[in-house]
Amino acid sequence: MNDKDILELKNMIDINNIPNHVAVIMDGNGRWAKKRSLPRTVGHQEGMKRVVEIVEVAKKLNIKYLSLYAFSTENWKRPKEEIDGIMKILVYYIRNELEKIHKNNIKIQIMGNINRLPKTPREEVLKAVEKTKDNTDMVLNIGLNYGGKDDIIRGVKNILKDIKMGKINEEDIDVELFSNYLYTKNMPDPDLLIRPSGELRLSNFMLYQMAYTEFWFSDIFWPDFKEEHFYKAIIDYQKRNRRFGGI
Ligand code: FPP
Repeated sequence: MNDKDILELKNMIDINNIPNHVAVIMDGNGRWAKKRSLPRTVGHQEGMKRVVEIVEVAKKLNIKYLSLYAFSTENWKRPKEEIDGIMKILVYYIRNELEKIHKNNIKIQIMGNINRLPKTPREEVLKAVEKTKDNTDMVLNIGLNYGGKDDIIRGVKNILKDIKMGKINEEDIDVELFSNYLYTKNMPDPDLLIRPSGELRLSNFMLYQMAYTEFWFSDIFWPDFKEEHFYKAIIDYQKRNRRFGGI
């Protein structure tokens, strides 16, 4: 697509109906690399470049929350070499992008238990969260060792603890209270989920939070996902009739 076509697409976006929260399952890095006879890690490196671009595009569109699935609770099953590669890329990303992210008033948040991460990525992530904690323009919410089922179970355990301590009563538990026990507390639910790579599933991503999320799928692999695909997803989203169970 040339610049003129991209601009035309961008102009089709209704700026009064921008999704507040966009979630992305960045899938297809491995297949993108395989197609080129490259190691899978090269696919993740290329995927990271798309993260840099998409964060910028989302910020410019005034999207307030961007959730990215970087590493799932199930991804530990992958070969050590690939896991180490993803962790290195994460560290590289933070070291290279943190200043820019901070200057752009973006707050980095993490969903998932980062205690299981190796020391260096864990420390870099904590540094990024601390440095950007007061930023207000956009939340970049990164799923690291994240699983939707794990998120819910952790919430249930913490609710039980608070009941035992007398902080809340069983009768207080409702959808809103429960939401505050998830990693995404203080965040609205995603309006739009983008999943490239041709897979049509949630893969344990934000299960509770996606009850009324609009899904957008595409066959392209994440390393091929460009600005124009993001615009297309938003334009499609804006055509949806969201009823939230009403009429
Ligand atoms: C899924 O593709 C992708 C991952 C498990 C890793 C995603 C990580 C990055 C894009 C880089 C680091 C992230 C940040 C936020 C800087 P896959 O490997 O499952 O692809 P496949 O289905 O084709 O094998």
